Amino acid sequence: MGFRMAALASCTLHFGLNFFTRNGINAARSSSQHFINPELIDNISMHPVIERIKETFTQRGKEQYGTESVTQVQHALQCGMLAEASGAVRTLVTAATLHDLGHIFHASPLPVTCGENLDDKHEWVAHDWLRKHFGPEVAEPIRLHVVAKRYLCTQNPGYEQALSPTSLKSYLDQGGPMSPEEMSAFEGESFHKEALALRVWDDLAKEQDKETPGFHHFMPTLEACLQ
Ligand SMILES: [Fe+2]
Ligand SMILES: [Fe+2]
Repeated sequence: MGFRMAALASCTLHFGLNFFTRNGINAARSSSQHFINPELIDNISMHPVIERIKETFTQRGKEQYGTESVTQVQHALQCGMLAEASGAVRTLVTAATLHDLGHIFHASPLPVTCGENLDDKHEWVAHDWLRKHFGPEVAEPIRLHVVAKRYLCTQNPGYEQALSPTSLKSYLDQGGPMSPEEMSAFEGESFHKEALALRVWDDLAKEQDKETPGFHHFMPTLEACLQ
């Protein structure tokens, strides 16, 4: 286990995030490596909302995830798989898969250098659309996944040290360390624990060339969460 994986996984224990998992992050990582399917998006039609999401990933999913070494769709599928393999409930698996939808709902792609401001408010873009179609169990952890990183970094310096360069830059652009008042406000959010679990999967879901099932794998889960 590399330093980054070990540091992030230790944070799940530190914050008691195994509440959301069957076997923890390590099991999620090893389990997700067993899937072999190079097709990331399959041609299956479903509910119009799911179809819209699929089309968005089809059109924009191949864009680079900022300066990370994965594309948008690779990041989404890896994050969804980490949630699923950890035994998360289907609403949280859905939130994990769709957490960065706001990046590709934007008209322009993400900056590919860290020299620009990386705070694009994408959590609000995704939340404002998804809350119309999914319940708060999906939309709220997504809204909170940015501030969850600020919380984790403020609570534990090891978490900040384990972030990728892009994630560290966006953390600073998004406000950096939290004040005690901000931390209390976050802890008062109904879905803050779900957001913390999602955040850890988010920061792990950046492995270049990692095999995952295609987008079709998540379609039934997403559709089951529609309101
Ligand atoms: Fe994000
Ligand atoms: Fe992400």
